[in-house]
Amino acid sequence: MEMSQELLKAREYEEQAEKKISAKERPGFHLSVRTGWMNDPNGFSFYDGAYHLFYQYQPYETNWGPMHWGHAVSKDFLHWEYLPAALAPDAAYDKDGCFSGSAAVLPDGRQLLLYTGVSKEAGADGKEKEIQRQCAAVGNGTDYEKYEKNPVIDGNMLPVGASKIDFRDPKIWREEDDRYFCVAGNRAEDGSGQILLFESGNGFDWNFKSVLCENKGRFGSMWECPDFFKLEDKWVLITSPQDMLTDGREYPNGNGTLALVGAFDKASGKFLEETNQTLDFGIDFYAPQTTLTPDGRRVMIGWMQNWDTCGIRKENTKWFGQMTLARELFMKNGRVCQRPVKELEILRGEKTEYRNVVFEGEKRLDGVKGRRVELELCIRPEKEMYHKFMIHFAENESFHTSLGFFPMDSRLEFDRSFSGTRRAGLHKKDCRVFENEGELRLHIILDHYSAEVFINDGEQVMTAAFYTELAVDGISFAADGEVCMDVVHYQLG
Ligand code: FRU
Repeated sequence: MEMSQELLKAREYEEQAEKKISAKERPGFHLSVRTGWMNDPNGFSFYDGAYHLFYQYQPYETNWGPMHWGHAVSKDFLHWEYLPAALAPDAAYDKDGCFSGSAAVLPDGRQLLLYTGVSKEAGADGKEKEIQRQCAAVGNGTDYEKYEKNPVIDGNMLPVGASKIDFRDPKIWREEDDRYFCVAGNRAEDGSGQILLFESGNGFDWNFKSVLCENKGRFGSMWECPDFFKLEDKWVLITSPQDMLTDGREYPNGNGTLALVGAFDKASGKFLEETNQTLDFGIDFYAPQTTLTPDGRRVMIGWMQNWDTCGIRKENTKWFGQMTLARELFMKNGRVCQRPVKELEILRGEKTEYRNVVFEGEKRLDGVKGRRVELELCIRPEKEMYHKFMIHFAENESFHTSLGFFPMDSRLEFDRSFSGTRRAGLHKKDCRVFENEGELRLHIILDHYSAEVFINDGEQVMTAAFYTELAVDGISFAADGEVCMDVVHYQLG
């Protein structure tokens, strides 16, 4: 297989640059970029005995730039091994970026990557325009060759009014009858996002099938990074809308994540929407992608950053961008819920447990501290309703990041204002916790530079990154009013 100069250069560069980053400077069990910059998860799939996770990758700088595909594999979603960069922007049709996409297995056992090729081209009026087209590459799990007839889906196939400029992020899946489908994000004539559905017998020759779902100005503008799959007896359409307008409860401003739950009429290629929800109420979550595990679990990984908050980072960092934990999706009361993959248990080290700790004011518990920690908390009123419950982590005299629960208005607030950042910006986010009588269950996973908070058995989730020095590792509790608390704490190895 012949390799382009661009890909060779990236592979040589990343191998050297990676050596300058010690394991201690990275998250322990979340995938971080090998070197430089990472955004969306791509090509998340099980192939040849391992989970493959590719990602939007700019190896040379810690800012977004010419998009490559980085690559890593894992057997358990927790221990990741880097593989050489898979794609570089080295063809005429993707010279301005190999944008997001997905992976599937071909009948002959090879791995098929479907991605968006971006190129800036002069239009009829002489002005430069960015064109986005879907392209294929085929490989063996390490090396990939771009398909000679690329692009495989281009603007000429699209219905009237569909944008050829905003047309990206194909997510492919293979049906039981061996046919392939893919969904892609697109912008309709009204400027609003829509999801297009395509069909193929072999993964290379594609036909436009239908407009699967239209935004019609409801949830932000352009819809990026769609994913579409069956979950229990529902179909779920996930997408990441740009420019969301908050509704004060479910959706925050900015770049958000949306899950539409409903049914799929395969004959017409139409999604029949029933309900909508956000996937994550935290500060740093975007562009999630799912895969089906061999044992039938629908597992999702998201980019654990957000376009609106990329300025919040460590000074002079050598890497920027990490992925969330892999999370199992399940349905409860019509909502898509999440829990960490069951594999997480293998990391559990020393266990510290406390039951029925009744306190008011500040509280510290022996053995409860650290930056690679799993915490299961259950908080309830002791007698009367309390006013506020707080947990501080990554804490010392100067710094802390916190979760505060205000049961009177069922509000859980994440706050990283005191995490050591010197930047102003978005440091707080709220989640309106569903029905509760002051009883709250929190499952918190800390891994050096992040916190993922699963609320009430994963009904709601808050994810955020923070870059406090690693030596700052205190955990403490506080309550305004008397609370009764159970704590299960594991060091994660
Ligand atoms: C989403 C996104 C995608 C695009 C990629 C480019 O975060 O904007 O739509 O493919 O990032 O890096």
